[in-house]
Amino acid sequence: QTTVTVTPAVLGFTAVPKGLGDTVVVPSGHDVTVLYRLGDPLAAGVAAYANDGTDTNFAQRAGDHHDGMSYFGLASSGSSPDPSNSSRGVLVLNHENITAAYLHPNGPTSSNGVRPEAEAIKEIEAHGVSVVEVSRASGGAWTYVQSSSLNRRITPNTPMRFSGPAAGSALLRTAYSPDGTSGRGTINNCANGTMPWHTYLTNEENWAGYFRRNAGDAAVRTTAGLAKENVSLARYGISEGRTGNNGWTTVTPATAGNTVFSRWNATADATQAADGSGDFRHEPFQFGWVVEIDPFDPSATPRKRTALGRMNHEGCQVGRTIAGVRPAFYMGDDAQNEYIYKFVSATPWSAADASASDRLAVGDKYLNAGTLHVARFNADGTGQWLPLVFGQNGLTSSNATYPFADQADVLVNTRLAADVLGATKMDRPEWTAVNPATGEMYCTLTNNSSRRPVASGSQTGVDAANPRAYVDPKTTGGSTTGNANGHVIRLRETGDTSEASTFAWDIYAFGAGSDLDATNINLSGLDATNDFSSPDGMWFGLPSNVSGQGTPLLWLQTDDGAFTDQTNCMMLAAIPGTVGDGGTRSVTSTVGGGSATVSTRIGKTPGTTLRRFLVGPKQCEITGIHSTPDGTALFVNIQHPGEDGNARAISSNWPASQTGAASGSRPRSATIVITRSDGGIVGL
Ligand code: FEO
Ligand code: CA
Ligand code: CA
Ligand code: CA
Repeated sequence: QTTVTVTPAVLGFTAVPKGLGDTVVVPSGHDVTVLYRLGDPLAAGVAAYANDGTDTNFAQRAGDHHDGMSYFGLASSGSSPDPSNSSRGVLVLNHENITAAYLHPNGPTSSNGVRPEAEAIKEIEAHGVSVVEVSRASGGAWTYVQSSSLNRRITPNTPMRFSGPAAGSALLRTAYSPDGTSGRGTINNCANGTMPWHTYLTNEENWAGYFRRNAGDAAVRTTAGLAKENVSLARYGISEGRTGNNGWTTVTPATAGNTVFSRWNATADATQAADGSGDFRHEPFQFGWVVEIDPFDPSATPRKRTALGRMNHEGCQVGRTIAGVRPAFYMGDDAQNEYIYKFVSATPWSAADASASDRLAVGDKYLNAGTLHVARFNADGTGQWLPLVFGQNGLTSSNATYPFADQADVLVNTRLAADVLGATKMDRPEWTAVNPATGEMYCTLTNNSSRRPVASGSQTGVDAANPRAYVDPKTTGGSTTGNANGHVIRLRETGDTSEASTFAWDIYAFGAGSDLDATNINLSGLDATNDFSSPDGMWFGLPSNVSGQGTPLLWLQTDDGAFTDQTNCMMLAAIPGTVGDGGTRSVTSTVGGGSATVSTRIGKTPGTTLRRFLVGPKQCEITGIHSTPDGTALFVNIQHPGEDGNARAISSNWPASQTGAASGSRPRSATIVITRSDGGIVGL
């Protein structure tokens, strides 16, 4: 095992206090520019956003709920990549969801339960992904380029191609794609992945919520010989009686035969073929994937990478790439008591691929064949990556719970396969990030209201890797019980290689209010300068890739419901240590009448190496972060400000509030750029 030296360094800014205001607050010496807001026009001739609910044509405007995001440098002219360019690039960002209450003049409407087609079109198109050219004028501010030929909106209606072992699987057949090789769109795109060959990964997270499934569907499938599909649908949360988010399936389309609304109804039609080619019973199997996009070619069809499994994909980040070594891709499945995954490519890394011109072909090379693994965390600080391979370890046709047919079936039903292997149920795995200096992988575990001292029903018992269960003192007897504040786990691969099948782990930091019990809750000794709750977005940024600048910075963002009495959501910067630099710690959990004590592994107390950098406006989540390669511009997304309000009771005026007069202005999710007044690296 190689020795890793982490250079001591200090954070170069004064912590911002917790706050409940309606602007983005950053340390003195830093500036905030609002860059790309919900509704901003993305093509020449598209009208400015009125922001009163009357706007249309979101396929040519910024979508809602900005989330994961990557910056790709562009050559100074034309559309080729230049990974060193810090003044012209394309930003690619996800539009995870919508706040429908602000998208229409008076919020969403229906007539006798039937949604108007125009409203549903707007809501669908406000989801997806934006590709948008951005540039910095010489010595000036960042703007986006409204008429750039690189600009693109990918929506839930954009054609997609399936690749990898599940492409062409019987489980992916629909009336739209009778051979199971193509599909329409991507939805609930959460975190991102930035590939070394200059493509963007978008990750389908809470896609299941959009589906309707009528009572009686299970019986139709059973009669058709498809009983195991009922097991699968239940495992992914698509129970009978679901009506589906936003009621899109109730729309009567103006054009007969238009299935862009009815496709969200997964109910099997008993008069159609059992293979699913005549209806949309298999449409849910077309979602829950990692999707690769070429940001430099607006005509390229995005590819769903089935080798990486199907789940509530939060994000997918690549580990260090080393010539001749098979690279790893780290992923969280964000739901209570779900798992952490690693895909190891079958193909060793070749540095020449970083500059290949057919970028999606490089994606085919690394992302279509390999082995998906799921993590088991042991109490002694070690862990295993368990392979999800058909025919091994119970993933066979004789499995009693779910008989697997082939590797495609294992991948479509990743969660069921991981259950069989005995993976560790985690406190909602969100973003992953890899420390470029050490190769250590971090994963945010945002919170888990179903964690308890001992397992019971749907509640999971504490273990070494998920050691806390308590009643948040703010809401005694309320809903924020379990692991109310979340934690950040990290692991070091054995031999420091992405190919490893074992690892060591510890917990980098536990979220908590600084006033909470230091023995069993505020285990990381957080104070007023760095207390946080519900870690979510996370990214290692500069100065790691600036030669000679020392230790990489870890940026940590929050999506919180337990700490919002004291502060809006925030972003912190950290100079983390390494796995095992703390020690062991005994934690006692007492909630719900039970009690349990476990020994966990904890990193060194962060102290001044973790500091609050930003506090957002009201009712927002901070999510999505990337920078220019020189680190002088940090891009951050502010998601759903004012989400508790509506068109008649506006509860935030951000981003108009950022620059002054804003009364009556509806809130908008937006990308901001943070720069330093002296032009230096942000955060140092
Ligand atoms: Fe989209 Fe788990 O956050
Ligand atoms: Ca998230
Ligand atoms: Ca979250
Ligand atoms: Ca969100």
